[in-house]
Amino acid sequence: MPGESIGVIGCGTMGAGIVEVCARAGLQVAVVDQDLEVLESGRDRIRASLERARTARKLEGDPGKIMSRISFSSDLKHLVSASMIFEAIIEEENSKRELFTTLAEVLTDPDTVLATNTSSIPIMKLAAQTTNPGNVIGIHFFNPVPVMSLVELVPSLLTDEATIRRAEAFVSETLGKNVIRSQDRAGFVVNALLIPYLLSAIRMVESGFASSEDIDTGMIEGCRHPMGPLALADLIGLDTVMAVSESLYEEFREAHYSPPPLLSRMVQAGLTGRKAGRGFYDYG
Ligand code: CAA
Ligand code: NAD
Repeated sequence: MPGESIGVIGCGTMGAGIVEVCARAGLQVAVVDQDLEVLESGRDRIRASLERARTARKLEGDPGKIMSRISFSSDLKHLVSASMIFEAIIEEENSKRELFTTLAEVLTDPDTVLATNTSSIPIMKLAAQTTNPGNVIGIHFFNPVPVMSLVELVPSLLTDEATIRRAEAFVSETLGKNVIRSQDRAGFVVNALLIPYLLSAIRMVESGFASSEDIDTGMIEGCRHPMGPLALADLIGLDTVMAVSESLYEEFREAHYSPPPLLSRMVQAGLTGRKAGRGFYDYG
């Protein structure tokens, strides 16, 4: 729907990317993060990404005009006039459930679509927190959002057909992304396949089977992946990889989904990958 006005909650790795693609599509975007420093760094990352796209001749429109469509705040009330809201806060079930409860109190328009970008949490668990579960849907973007063409659409058992159609039209027609659908199962399609692969690579490092560099080189040069699994885990964020692994394990109870101790220790140490400056690699 070209007329949607967008709200985004969370301006970290994914939130900033979703804000960018929506503003690039010509829409007004209101973004909220509880952390003022994150809002500031998110603004800088969006600006830098637009500049990168402009240099690569992939940007339609003027970066300054695109930035002027984005407004930043730490107050959820900033989103009241949005017709479609993307939740992109940390992958923590309790935080998301609490946020969905609060949103049900703050939002006044019964037609507002509440989309979650969760990587793994069943949509039904979040929809159950709201007064209008028919408007809640999973719209799962991939990292980096401006570059990746795929979006997973995940309706819950209670999502209205009209919400599904509106979300699909928005993602494919307004944002120009390709859509696949998934049942509402932890991890959906892509992460249910990707995360066990990343965890296997971490177990290889943990057991001394091979170095991070050799594992990554193996997958880049031996399988033509754009990056190796340990660099990819750093890109996603090790806290997110661990949270997704926990959701998958909680849902399916299969050992290959459980987080290896090395991953837990790195997250506890704050070595969460690129966003922290250090994970399996050092980002200076
Ligand atoms: N806007 C638009 N286009 C951009 C851009 C921007 N800000 N930044 C880069 N690009 C374009 C470049 O122009 C380039 O396009 P061409 O191939 O047409 O030349 C392309 O994107 C790649 O950019 P770079 O050449 O600069 O590439 P890079 O080496 O920096 O690649 C990468 C980085 C895109 C991340 C690549 O390594 C890659 O695709 N890695 C795999 C990413 C992946 O698997 N993501 C999924 C993670 S899982 C997930 O997201 C789900 C979850 O829930 C955890
Ligand atoms: P991130 O840690 O980079 O950013 C999360 C942001 O949420 C932080 O800026 C934090 O300040 C903010 N936040 C936390 N609680 C909040 C609240 N109650 N209200 C407002 N802001 C709050 O995380 P991310 O990597 O951007 O992930 C966000 C979501 O997207 C997660 O659900 C994640 O699973 C999903 N996702 C991540 C990736 C990825 O590759 N990182 C890919 C697809 C989906």
